[in-house]
Amino acid sequence: MVVDGQVMGACEEERFNRVKHGKQAMVDNPQVLPEHAIRFCLDCAGLSASYIDQVGYSFTPKLRRATFRADWWANPQMEELFLRSLGEVAGAVEKLLGRPLRGKFKFVDHHIAHAASAYYPSGFDEAAILIVDGIGEAACSTLARGDNGRIRTLETISYPHSLGMVWELLSHHLGFSTYDASKVMGLAAYGNPEVFSREMAAVIRVEEEGYTVDEEAIGFQSVKVSRRNELFGEPRRRGAEILPRHADIAAALQDVTDKAVMALARRVERITGLDRLCVAGGVALNCVTNTLIKEAGLFSEIYIPPAPHDAGTAIGAALALHYPKSANARPNGNASAFLGPQFTEREILAAVKDAGLTPKRTKTAARDAADMIADGNVVAWFQGRMEFGPRALGNRSLLGDPRRPDTREIFNQRVKHRETFRPFAPSVLAEHADEWFDVGRPTISHDYMLFACAVKPDKKDRIPAVLHQDGTARVQIVRREANPRYHELVSHFYARTGVPLVLNTSFNDNEPIVCTPAHAIATFRNTLIDALFMGDVYLTSEK
Ligand SMILES: [Fe+2]
Repeated sequence: MVVDGQVMGACEEERFNRVKHGKQAMVDNPQVLPEHAIRFCLDCAGLSASYIDQVGYSFTPKLRRATFRADWWANPQMEELFLRSLGEVAGAVEKLLGRPLRGKFKFVDHHIAHAASAYYPSGFDEAAILIVDGIGEAACSTLARGDNGRIRTLETISYPHSLGMVWELLSHHLGFSTYDASKVMGLAAYGNPEVFSREMAAVIRVEEEGYTVDEEAIGFQSVKVSRRNELFGEPRRRGAEILPRHADIAAALQDVTDKAVMALARRVERITGLDRLCVAGGVALNCVTNTLIKEAGLFSEIYIPPAPHDAGTAIGAALALHYPKSANARPNGNASAFLGPQFTEREILAAVKDAGLTPKRTKTAARDAADMIADGNVVAWFQGRMEFGPRALGNRSLLGDPRRPDTREIFNQRVKHRETFRPFAPSVLAEHADEWFDVGRPTISHDYMLFACAVKPDKKDRIPAVLHQDGTARVQIVRREANPRYHELVSHFYARTGVPLVLNTSFNDNEPIVCTPAHAIATFRNTLIDALFMGDVYLTSEK
């Protein structure tokens, strides 16, 4: 929801319907809309459907028709079904809103939507824009530029040259779901990138200013014969033991991705000559690659939004429709991740009562929570507006003590039930981040947990619970202006322990992150969380 160029609200359907990613993307369901999220967006702006000027949808059938070849599918009829379903989207929106939209409904090119989601919130007047993605209509990577509120595409790299799709496929090959690129990223730190470097080069070939993907080697269509198993061995069965070779494949994939994205960054820098960069697309969730681009010295500033993946194209589509229409429009730079639902104390108390629990109250929630964390407890911290994007950033978070070597194990046993190789991230006070981590060039995107930073050698032994195998951490910087209440909590922890950071992981147990007080209470009851703070109300585990 964009009002006068301001992003008022954004939320993924999964947080309401409790189905990961809202729905499985299929050729026959693009017209199945995120109904709850749309209703939330209207509510948060206090608007009824009659006030809507434009509705954007971040995918264009016309561009698809012009650029995508139906024979790229194993079954070309899939494309017909997909286009037919896209033709039903406008009608589905009208039905949901209960009114005709006439010319108000607009398709927006997928990569323009990605680009807009990064460029307009960045606040940069002029910027090079790099999109590295799975696939849009046909484009997999796009180079663009933004000038005074206008976005222009410079080059596109089309299917089958998709880094995002290789990640999805190898994620599946390694025994995870196609959505589990973050697990592959975590696993990569345990492997040796050299072991499979030749095999990986047969799939992704990196050049000085670009890359190509060999479709026959990787095999995007499962029905076609590919060399995948020949190159990387038999797929790992889900739940089977993770062997060193699995980590080596992940490491080789991370390494080639770093090189391919760096090649694109060099190219977009050379052809634009600009020294600011905006990055989006699913691959922009890769903290290791992001750090390389940021520190390479090609650009003086970089901005990556909190939701660079497809969810963020909803914001991008709305901004792309708004900006070129308004005279003298300039990127506003009011980036925030806190765009989701929030709840009043009355709503929180009602949810506690519905659950048959007795609420406790405090005027010093930040201090109480910090003390509990320092005493080794698992604390759920539910405050204010929910984050937009895949990371919890201190409003729907589970917090723990970074100093204890066993915190990770405790979190995994009692709440998260995650694979043990996956790291947990630190939230560190902005004032002290430099003393503990190599944060490099500053950027607002540090607020969104998008960079892997090396720990300072003299601090390494003090925060074992938030360091990955390779001595890095996916740092979130906490600024007082961006989140005063969370900043206060970490400040109390610092005052008590001398360590200006806490372990922060998303508030969920293998389900979408909690959204409402009722979700929070349900997860609190079904797991071994010690305390749940919701505003000034809290519950402890004497359940
Ligand atoms: Fe995308």
